[in-house]
Amino acid sequence: MIESVPPYRVEPMQWDDVPEVMTIERQSFTLPWSDYTYQHEILENNHSHYYVARYTNGQAAGRANWLKRLFQRSRQSPVIGYGGFWLVVDEAHISTIASGESWRGRGIGELMLLAMVERSIELGAVMVTLEVRVSNTVAQNLYHKYGFQVVGRRPRYYRDNDEDADLMTVDQIQSEAYRAKLRDLRAALEDRLRRGEDR
Ligand SMILES: CC(C)(COP(=O)(O)OP(=O)(O)OC[C@H]1O[C@@H](n2cnc3c(N)ncnc32)[C@H](O)[C@@H]1OP(=O)(O)O)[C@@H](O)C(=O)NCCC(=O)NCCS
Repeated sequence: MIESVPPYRVEPMQWDDVPEVMTIERQSFTLPWSDYTYQHEILENNHSHYYVARYTNGQAAGRANWLKRLFQRSRQSPVIGYGGFWLVVDEAHISTIASGESWRGRGIGELMLLAMVERSIELGAVMVTLEVRVSNTVAQNLYHKYGFQVVGRRPRYYRDNDEDADLMTVDQIQSEAYRAKLRDLRAALEDRLRRGEDR
Protein backbone atom coordinates (compact mmCIF):
# COMPACT_ATOMS: atom_id res chain seq x y z
CA MET A 1 0.00 0.00 0.00
CA ILE A 2 1.56 3.29 -1.10
CA GLU A 3 0.49 5.90 1.34
CA SER A 4 1.47 9.04 3.16
CA VAL A 5 3.42 9.30 6.36
CA PRO A 6 3.01 12.99 7.13
CA PRO A 7 4.88 15.12 6.25
CA TYR A 8 5.95 12.68 3.51
CA ARG A 9 3.98 11.24 0.63
CA VAL A 10 4.85 8.38 -1.72
CA GLU A 11 3.17 8.36 -5.11
CA PRO A 12 3.72 6.99 -8.61
CA MET A 13 6.47 8.76 -10.54
CA GLN A 14 5.14 10.86 -13.41
CA TRP A 15 6.86 12.32 -16.44
CA ASP A 16 6.99 15.81 -14.93
CA ASP A 17 8.86 14.42 -11.88
CA VAL A 18 11.80 13.38 -14.05
CA PRO A 19 13.80 16.66 -13.84
CA GLU A 20 13.78 16.49 -10.02
CA VAL A 21 14.55 12.78 -10.12
CA MET A 22 17.52 13.51 -12.40
CA THR A 23 18.94 16.00 -9.88
CA ILE A 24 19.00 13.28 -7.22
CA GLU A 25 20.18 10.69 -9.76
CA ARG A 26 23.29 12.76 -10.54
CA GLN A 27 24.00 13.23 -6.82
CA SER A 28 23.66 9.53 -6.17
CA PHE A 29 25.21 7.45 -8.93
CA THR A 30 28.52 7.47 -10.77
CA LEU A 31 26.70 5.93 -13.74
CA PRO A 32 23.47 7.97 -13.73
CA TRP A 33 20.57 6.90 -15.92
CA SER A 34 19.38 9.42 -18.50
CA ASP A 35 16.09 11.28 -18.33
CA TYR A 36 15.09 9.33 -21.42
CA THR A 37 15.52 6.07 -19.49
CA TYR A 38 13.19 7.28 -16.73
CA GLN A 39 10.63 8.47 -19.25
CA HIS A 40 10.78 5.11 -21.00
CA GLU A 41 10.42 3.28 -17.69
CA ILE A 42 7.32 5.17 -16.56
CA LEU A 43 5.61 5.64 -19.92
CA GLU A 44 6.46 2.53 -21.93
CA ASN A 45 7.62 -0.35 -19.75
CA ASN A 46 4.61 -2.35 -18.59
CA HIS A 47 6.70 -4.21 -16.02
CA SER A 48 7.86 -1.00 -14.31
CA HIS A 49 6.65 0.40 -11.01
CA TYR A 50 8.34 3.68 -10.11
CA TYR A 51 7.60 5.93 -7.15
CA VAL A 52 8.71 9.24 -5.70
CA ALA A 53 8.72 10.47 -2.10
CA ARG A 54 7.74 14.06 -1.56
CA TYR A 55 8.13 16.34 1.39
CA THR A 56 4.66 17.86 1.65
CA ASN A 57 5.38 20.50 4.24
CA GLY A 58 2.09 19.68 5.94
CA GLN A 59 -0.09 19.75 2.81
CA ALA A 60 -2.66 16.97 2.52
CA ALA A 61 -2.78 15.03 -0.75
CA GLY A 62 -6.38 16.22 -1.16
CA ARG A 63 -8.32 16.61 -4.35
CA ALA A 64 -7.33 20.15 -5.29
CA ASN A 65 -7.84 21.00 -8.94
CA TRP A 66 -5.16 19.74 -11.31
CA LEU A 67 -3.56 23.13 -11.90
CA LYS A 68 -3.19 23.78 -8.18
CA ARG A 69 -1.81 20.26 -7.66
CA LEU A 70 0.72 20.68 -10.47
CA PHE A 71 1.87 23.95 -8.94
CA GLN A 72 2.04 22.44 -5.46
CA ARG A 73 3.88 19.36 -6.70
CA SER A 74 6.77 21.24 -8.15
CA ARG A 75 6.97 24.29 -5.90
CA GLN A 76 5.94 23.11 -2.47
CA SER A 77 6.26 19.34 -2.41
CA PRO A 78 9.74 18.62 -3.71
CA VAL A 79 10.81 15.13 -4.69
CA ILE A 80 13.25 13.95 -2.02
CA GLY A 81 13.63 10.30 -2.97
CA TYR A 82 12.57 7.72 -5.51
CA GLY A 83 12.75 4.07 -6.35
CA GLY A 84 11.59 1.63 -8.95
CA PHE A 85 11.21 -2.04 -9.60
CA TRP A 86 10.31 -4.36 -12.41
CA LEU A 87 7.77 -7.08 -11.78
CA VAL A 88 8.27 -10.17 -13.92
CA VAL A 89 5.86 -13.00 -13.11
CA ASP A 90 6.23 -13.33 -9.34
CA GLU A 91 9.64 -11.70 -8.89
CA ALA A 92 10.19 -8.01 -8.17
CA HIS A 93 13.59 -6.63 -9.14
CA ILE A 94 14.49 -3.29 -7.58
CA SER A 95 16.25 -1.35 -10.31
CA THR A 96 16.95 1.90 -8.48
CA ILE A 97 16.55 3.60 -5.12
CA ALA A 98 17.94 6.90 -3.85
CA SER A 99 17.26 9.72 -1.45
CA GLY A 100 18.31 13.33 -2.01
CA GLU A 101 21.77 14.11 -0.70
CA SER A 102 20.56 16.58 1.93
CA TRP A 103 17.84 14.15 3.09
CA ARG A 104 20.03 11.14 3.77
CA GLY A 105 19.90 9.46 7.16
CA ARG A 106 16.33 10.67 7.77
CA GLY A 107 14.39 7.56 6.82
CA ILE A 108 13.58 8.47 3.21
CA GLY A 109 15.53 5.61 1.59
CA GLU A 110 13.84 3.23 4.00
CA LEU A 111 10.42 4.71 3.18
CA MET A 112 11.06 4.02 -0.51
CA LEU A 113 12.21 0.45 0.14
CA LEU A 114 9.24 -0.24 2.41
CA ALA A 115 6.83 1.19 -0.16
CA MET A 116 8.31 -0.94 -2.94
CA VAL A 117 8.31 -4.17 -0.91
CA GLU A 118 4.72 -3.56 0.21
CA ARG A 119 3.66 -2.85 -3.37
CA SER A 120 5.46 -6.01 -4.57
CA ILE A 121 3.46 -8.04 -2.05
CA GLU A 122 0.21 -6.42 -3.23
CA LEU A 123 1.08 -7.30 -6.81
CA GLY A 124 1.65 -10.94 -5.92
CA ALA A 125 5.45 -11.15 -5.92
CA VAL A 126 6.98 -13.91 -3.82
CA MET A 127 10.51 -12.52 -3.77
CA VAL A 128 12.43 -9.27 -4.28
CA THR A 129 15.92 -9.10 -5.75
CA LEU A 130 18.47 -6.36 -6.41
CA GLU A 131 22.13 -5.73 -7.15
CA VAL A 132 24.31 -3.57 -4.93
CA ARG A 133 27.96 -2.51 -5.14
CA VAL A 134 30.10 -4.57 -2.79
CA SER A 135 31.42 -1.27 -1.35
CA ASN A 136 27.95 0.22 -0.70
CA THR A 137 27.59 -0.72 2.95
CA VAL A 138 24.95 1.94 3.65
CA ALA A 139 22.56 0.41 1.10
CA GLN A 140 23.49 -3.12 2.19
CA ASN A 141 22.59 -2.25 5.80
CA LEU A 142 19.20 -1.01 4.63
CA TYR A 143 18.55 -4.20 2.65
CA HIS A 144 19.66 -6.46 5.51
CA LYS A 145 17.22 -4.62 7.78
CA TYR A 146 14.44 -5.75 5.42
CA GLY A 147 15.59 -9.36 5.38
CA PHE A 148 17.62 -9.35 2.16
CA GLN A 149 20.53 -11.78 2.02
CA VAL A 150 23.46 -12.06 -0.37
CA VAL A 151 22.82 -14.99 -2.71
CA GLY A 152 25.44 -14.40 -5.39
CA ARG A 153 27.99 -12.10 -6.91
CA ARG A 154 28.15 -10.55 -10.39
CA PRO A 155 31.83 -9.93 -11.19
CA ARG A 156 32.76 -6.52 -12.67
CA TYR A 157 29.07 -5.58 -12.92
CA TYR A 158 29.67 -1.79 -12.79
CA ARG A 159 31.34 -0.32 -15.86
CA ASP A 160 32.87 2.78 -14.23
CA ASN A 161 35.32 0.93 -11.96
CA ASP A 162 34.67 -2.75 -12.73
CA GLU A 163 33.30 -3.20 -9.24
CA ASP A 164 31.47 -6.42 -8.39
CA ALA A 165 27.79 -6.46 -7.46
CA ASP A 166 26.29 -8.54 -4.72
CA LEU A 167 22.98 -10.07 -5.69
CA MET A 168 20.62 -9.81 -2.72
CA THR A 169 17.19 -11.32 -2.33
CA VAL A 170 14.42 -11.65 0.20
CA ASP A 171 11.95 -14.45 -0.39
CA GLN A 172 8.69 -15.70 1.11
CA ILE A 173 7.50 -12.10 1.25
CA GLN A 174 3.87 -13.31 1.17
CA SER A 175 4.36 -15.28 4.41
CA GLU A 176 2.64 -14.11 7.56
CA ALA A 177 6.03 -13.98 9.30
CA TYR A 178 7.43 -11.52 6.74
CA ARG A 179 4.25 -9.42 6.71
CA ALA A 180 4.47 -9.17 10.50
CA LYS A 181 8.11 -8.07 10.22
CA LEU A 182 7.09 -5.37 7.71
CA ARG A 183 4.30 -4.14 9.99
CA ASP A 184 6.83 -3.73 12.82
CA LEU A 185 9.30 -1.97 10.53
CA ARG A 186 6.57 0.33 9.22
CA ALA A 187 5.41 1.26 12.72
CA ALA A 188 8.99 2.11 13.78
CA LEU A 189 9.64 4.09 10.58
CA GLU A 190 6.39 6.05 10.82
CA ASP A 191 7.28 6.95 14.38
CA ARG A 192 10.74 8.09 13.31
CA LEU A 193 9.46 10.10 10.33
CA ARG A 194 6.80 11.85 12.41
CA ARG A 195 9.38 12.80 14.98
CA GLY A 196 11.79 13.92 12.22
CA GLU A 197 14.62 11.95 13.77
CA ASP A 198 18.02 11.60 12.09
CA ARG A 199 20.06 8.43 12.48
C1 LIG B 1 21.17 3.97 0.18
C2 LIG B 1 20.23 5.13 0.44
C3 LIG B 1 18.99 5.02 -0.48
C4 LIG B 1 19.77 5.06 1.92
O1 LIG B 1 18.82 6.07 2.13
P1 LIG B 1 18.84 7.04 3.40
O2 LIG B 1 17.63 7.92 3.25
O3 LIG B 1 20.14 7.71 3.55
O4 LIG B 1 18.72 5.99 4.61
P2 LIG B 1 17.69 5.96 5.81
O5 LIG B 1 17.83 7.17 6.66
O6 LIG B 1 16.34 5.64 5.30
O7 LIG B 1 18.28 4.72 6.66
C5 LIG B 1 17.76 3.41 6.47
C6 LIG B 1 18.81 2.38 6.82
O8 LIG B 1 19.94 2.49 5.92
C7 LIG B 1 21.14 2.20 6.62
N1 LIG B 1 21.94 3.42 6.72
C8 LIG B 1 21.56 4.69 6.40
N2 LIG B 1 22.59 5.56 6.58
C9 LIG B 1 23.63 4.82 7.03
C10 LIG B 1 24.97 5.14 7.39
N3 LIG B 1 25.43 6.41 7.34
N4 LIG B 1 25.79 4.14 7.78
C11 LIG B 1 25.37 2.88 7.85
N5 LIG B 1 24.09 2.49 7.51
C12 LIG B 1 23.23 3.46 7.12
C13 LIG B 1 20.70 1.74 8.01
O9 LIG B 1 20.41 0.36 7.93
C14 LIG B 1 19.42 2.53 8.19
O10 LIG B 1 18.57 1.98 9.16
P3 LIG B 1 18.77 2.44 10.71
O11 LIG B 1 18.67 3.94 10.73
O12 LIG B 1 17.66 1.76 11.44
O13 LIG B 1 20.14 1.97 11.11
C15 LIG B 1 20.93 6.52 0.25
O14 LIG B 1 22.10 6.53 1.03
C16 LIG B 1 21.31 6.84 -1.19
O15 LIG B 1 20.50 7.40 -1.94
N6 LIG B 1 22.54 6.48 -1.61
C17 LIG B 1 23.01 6.74 -2.98
C18 LIG B 1 22.32 5.86 -3.97
C19 LIG B 1 22.51 4.40 -3.65
O16 LIG B 1 23.59 3.96 -3.26
N7 LIG B 1 21.43 3.61 -3.85
C20 LIG B 1 21.47 2.18 -3.63
C21 LIG B 1 21.83 1.48 -4.89
S1 LIG B 1 21.90 -0.28 -4.68
